[in-house]
Amino acid sequence: MQTPAPSAFRLSVAPMMDWTDRHCRYFHRLISPHARLYTEMVTSAALVRGKQLRLLEHSQQEHPVALQLGGSDPAELAEAARHGAAAGYDEINLNVGCPSDRVQSGKFGACLMREPALVGDCVKAMRDAVDIPVTVKCRIGVDDQDEYADLQHFTETMIAAGVEILVVHARKAWLQGLSPKENREIPPLDYERVYRLKREFPQLVIVINGGITTAEQVQAHLGQVDGVMLGRAAYHDPYVLARVEAALYGQPLPDRDDILRHMRPYIEAELARGTALKHITRHLLGLYQGEPGARGFRRLLSEQAHLPDAGWELLERAMLPKRAVAA
Ligand SMILES: Cc1cc2nc3c(=O)[nH]c(=O)nc-3n(C[C@H](O)[C@H](O)[C@H](O)COP(=O)(O)O)c2cc1C
Repeated sequence: MQTPAPSAFRLSVAPMMDWTDRHCRYFHRLISPHARLYTEMVTSAALVRGKQLRLLEHSQQEHPVALQLGGSDPAELAEAARHGAAAGYDEINLNVGCPSDRVQSGKFGACLMREPALVGDCVKAMRDAVDIPVTVKCRIGVDDQDEYADLQHFTETMIAAGVEILVVHARKAWLQGLSPKENREIPPLDYERVYRLKREFPQLVIVINGGITTAEQVQAHLGQVDGVMLGRAAYHDPYVLARVEAALYGQPLPDRDDILRHMRPYIEAELARGTALKHITRHLLGLYQGEPGARGFRRLLSEQAHLPDAGWELLERAMLPKRAVAA
């Protein structure tokens, strides 16, 4: 297996259920040529037992793109990883960070932080099944795992299983009493724990995630770890990806209207194959975040994208009042 250089993991957009679908990823790719994109989590059961291979659909423009899997059955995950590799994904990522109840009942996600040996078996099975990198996204701990030693042991087990790239959401998950949303907000961020991991396991590519919202913060983290993964900030204010591109790769800042116009062929092709406009435009609402007219843009799309004859011309109209405000 050819492992990509650590620089391939410098910038990424997090897997987010219901958000980072293929339309969203296509849009993010237009803004960020370099970011590694992650799918929403797909369970191994859905692919293997449910045979829902349509969940793997994506477009060529999305590369590099990683398929995130959820599960804890090594054989089933291996089979799911095989489907992912055959579909053309560049990486398989295992979710060991998601705290939702549904996920806990299926014994996967963050509760697996307590079972490093099982996660190691899952990783080994997937690595044996595919030639693309198998990576893990985890938390710094769960519940009473307050000691750095727990994270250290988890990491050693991952390395022994062959993991070369670890994405760490720099907060614990509290599995009792907090909703998934609260679990992204309430447990405090502890970046230092992730930095320490990098210092102690310098050979491991470490990507840090959690609460990162600006290009300046991205650059500061890159002084300590190999990569930065943006989640909510990239979704709510996607233009932050353009700012990060400019800071890291010297890309000129693109014009927001141009980004939108580059979506036109994609949107028209999707409409022609029966996709409803609203399924695409919902990901575009934050494009003008912080700009004059942003609210009008958002409102027009929110109110009209679901109408039966809504098409590209709605986006042209949505751009107009924004310009009037700016003038
Ligand atoms: C709506 C939503 C859905 C998410 N779904 C997933 C998921 O499917 N898999 C996963 O590993 N993390 C998921 N996460 C967590 C993010 O990947 C990320 O770890 C978290 O939001 C912290 O990063 P941020 O502060 O940059 O948003 C989700 C987050 C959000 C907001």
